Amino acid sequence: MGKVFLVGAGPGDPELLTVRALRILKSAEVVVYDRLVSDEVLRIAAHALLIDGGKRQGEQDRIQDYINQTLLCHARAGRTVVRLKAGDPMVFGRGAEEWEYLLAHDVEVEIVPGISSALAVPSLAGIPLTCRGIAASFAVIAGHREHFIRTDWSQYARIDTLIILMGVENREYIAESLIRAGRPSSHPVAFVENGTTDRERVVETTLSEVASGMAEVQAPAIFVIGEVVRLRSRLAPAQLAGARVS
Ligand SMILES: C[S@@+](CC[C@H](N)C(=O)[O-])C[C@H]1O[C@@H](n2cnc3c(N)ncnc32)[C@H](O)[C@@H]1O
Repeated sequence: MGKVFLVGAGPGDPELLTVRALRILKSAEVVVYDRLVSDEVLRIAAHALLIDGGKRQGEQDRIQDYINQTLLCHARAGRTVVRLKAGDPMVFGRGAEEWEYLLAHDVEVEIVPGISSALAVPSLAGIPLTCRGIAASFAVIAGHREHFIRTDWSQYARIDTLIILMGVENREYIAESLIRAGRPSSHPVAFVENGTTDRERVVETTLSEVASGMAEVQAPAIFVIGEVVRLRSRLAPAQLAGARVS
């Protein structure tokens, strides 16, 4: 029986891989990767059998079954298998579900954490998640519909910095819900598209402008709300030209 490494690929830039992830990728025989894993990171494992495990809208469950079976089949054949996920495998990555499935089939699993885009993408764009005197709390939340069904938005109205993943499509709804729950409509917002890659683009705006449909953004992006966004003009002034929508 082989072994499956559940590895975090970090936010995109290969220099943000951990030393352990790099070592394991170099010795992998099979790599099953997600849609958001960058080409630069995949190139490190070019010697391995590379299998696209990217999920498309509406096909997630079918593809998840295919991924589980593929991991199992290669592990049973005695191969060193890497399940490579963007960011950290345990942050909105279905890492726990795959871990459980493999354990239930007696496959050894090793977790290799990665740097989550939720933390690294804002900070590299000049937006710290906390800052003394400005923000002492943050939360990372999922911006997709399934999550909204059981969401009490008032709990997020009081958190200093909100980081929303997978929230581009529903950005207007999210912004409206937060304003309704008591978050000031003037609160600064940033979207960081394709963070840490050469396609990175930052859009700075406000919650009210997002609610009224004025923020033009493409996925994948990190949606950050909070006073810390204002720090970007001091911490990353060189990146600012042409990025504001307001
Ligand atoms: C399914 S979640 C996976 C999160 C991942 N496990 C992590 O820890 O970063 C996918 C979402 O992560 C965010 N994301 C991941 N990488 C990103 C990047 N390089 N730039 C901007 N957003 C990114 C986007 O919000 C995207 O919709």
